[in-house]
Amino acid sequence: SRNIRLAVIPGDGIGTEVVAEGLKVLEAVGTKIEPTHYDLGAARYHRTGETLPDSVLQELRGYDAILLGAVGDPSVPPGILERDLLLRLRFEFDHYVNLRPVKLFPGVRTPLADTPPENIDMIVVREGTEGLYAGTGGAMRRGTPHEIATQESLNTAYGVERVVRYAFDKAQSRPRKKLTLVHKTNVLTYAGDLWQRTVNRVAAEYPEVSVDYSHIDAASMFFVTQPERFDVVVTDNLFGDIITDLGAAIAGGIGLAASGNINPTGAAPSMFEPVHGSAPDIAGQGKADPTATILSVAMLLDHLGLSAEAAKVEQAVAADIAARAEGAAPRSTQQIGDDITARVAG
Ligand code: NAD
Ligand code: IPM
Ligand code: MN
Repeated sequence: SRNIRLAVIPGDGIGTEVVAEGLKVLEAVGTKIEPTHYDLGAARYHRTGETLPDSVLQELRGYDAILLGAVGDPSVPPGILERDLLLRLRFEFDHYVNLRPVKLFPGVRTPLADTPPENIDMIVVREGTEGLYAGTGGAMRRGTPHEIATQESLNTAYGVERVVRYAFDKAQSRPRKKLTLVHKTNVLTYAGDLWQRTVNRVAAEYPEVSVDYSHIDAASMFFVTQPERFDVVVTDNLFGDIITDLGAAIAGGIGLAASGNINPTGAAPSMFEPVHGSAPDIAGQGKADPTATILSVAMLLDHLGLSAEAAKVEQAVAADIAARAEGAAPRSTQQIGDDITARVAG
């Protein structure tokens, strides 16, 4: 089979550390892959003032997939790298599905007492191109006591419908066939109404899928008290961002949470990355858990149709996690990567 052309954006902080381990695993899986590294992030920004040059954006379009570590650094004002690099990639490549599984692996310690692994097994379908991330906003009288800041949420019928349809397809393919819309229809009456009507309309085409609704505040509570309520969750960009960090916490920690920014049409490459950020508090110390990135590599393989290879990576991670539960000593980023690589290779 032909080589996978992979663009790699390690980014900032622990991004570079975890991506190195993800690539090791990818190389061990026995698929021909050609990685090309792109130096984007804080260092490039300080050196040249560039976040994502148009020429690089065009080049990235030509890859089969993108693997990203994390972006963001305390030396750069918040929003510059996040918006002009990461969010720009999601918007330009129309990653309208941000797929974030929340799955408790056997042996992982969850902060939820007495919760068996089968009770935490959901997938959050987070909208990736609209909402508060894409809306207009502005500040008036900035810096004065009378400052006014606005930030609007953009929700289009087209954008909501396509992600809702994806979520229904996903629910249809899973054993429980349940879809929960998470929003705040009691307050966000315009956007919430559009989301709810869209779900109701599309639901008619999926008679086997049972449909549920939770306000975001209640959903946050249920994630902790009754995670078994959820199978497929569909939600907007910001609610999805927040609830997937909570999802990561209940499923054993942010170091395990994987994601894919998917363009289901294939018109542009999809991009895989851990849910976590650049973790400046532990960067450069070999303390970051690369598992989230390695599981993101499994999602990448699956997306490219290499489901056997994806399963191999997931099984290696599951075995590594089980070994941790049996009291394996704490390991460095590199050691965890080496151990999982050895399981994949062996
Ligand atoms: P963060 O996810 O980087 O860190 C939150 C906490 O989780 C920290 O204590 C960190 O040490 C810990 N943590 C994160 N990943 C870990 C891992 N793999 N192993 C062990 N511990 C881990 O979130 P933050 O501190 O809010 O943000 C830091 C920077 O990252 C900011 O600039 C932010 O904008 C950026 N960010 C980027 C992304 C991304 O690139 N997708 C995601 C989130 C945050
Ligand atoms: C994430 C991050 C990003 C988001 C930031 C860094 C723009 O928190 O990938 O979850 O809000 O989507
Ligand atoms: Mn986030």
